[in-house]
Amino acid sequence: MNLIVMKDYKEMSRQAALLIAASIALKPNLVLGLPTGKTPLLMYKELVIIYQNGFVDFTNVTTFNLDEYAGIGRDDRNSFYRYMQDNLFRHININNKNIHIPDGTARDLKEECRRYEEAIRKFGPIDLMILGIGHNGHIGFNEPSDEFIAETHIERLTSKTRRAYAKYFGSISKVPTKAITMGLGTIMMSRKIILIASGRDKAEVIRRAFKGNITPKCPASILRLHQDCTFLIDRDAASLIDK
Ligand code: F6R
Repeated sequence: MNLIVMKDYKEMSRQAALLIAASIALKPNLVLGLPTGKTPLLMYKELVIIYQNGFVDFTNVTTFNLDEYAGIGRDDRNSFYRYMQDNLFRHININNKNIHIPDGTARDLKEECRRYEEAIRKFGPIDLMILGIGHNGHIGFNEPSDEFIAETHIERLTSKTRRAYAKYFGSISKVPTKAITMGLGTIMMSRKIILIASGRDKAEVIRRAFKGNITPKCPASILRLHQDCTFLIDRDAASLIDK
């Protein structure tokens, strides 16, 4: 596992955006895996700036998002689809048909998981997977569990995760109880993985993922078995690694 520690959130975000742009320069038809959440917000902003300056072309890029809430439609202001449109897609020249996000309102969610997994197999493997990390060690919405689940599946969100997301919904009771998420096997099949994290509140989970046991109780710990995974984090998030 590689570790890159940047001075702060801004530097980390810029570095992540540069790495995405450089990967597209090297492979214009890159298959890119993307997260939502608070952490990647500035990375997306920086990427839009790089695009506006003419340094990156998304025409042939294909994207796969990690997850989507069950029961939340694309137009809902809390959907990850909407998040991606607002923060990245509508600011760049990506082809709509190359954007993939699970449909949380599909009538048959299990079938939707199968369809999503198949699409990743068809276009993939993912060349570059960008991940965030939850305070409980989740990546995508793969919550702590007794087993690692390989493929795209429906995950019951833990109360810790629902509490963390309550700020977007107004109250915890409004946060969906389930989500569709890419599985850990599919994430691990990505050619290159970059996990971004910032802030002191992420330091303990970064320490566990980076140095603790490899266990489904901390899903991000599985990344240590990947041959090309980098933790690109800021000083605060790295502050407990050597302790
Ligand atoms: C969301 C996702 C999650 C987040 C994680 C951290 O698509 O994949 O694993 O990356 O919950 O979220 P923030 O960045 O809001 O702390």
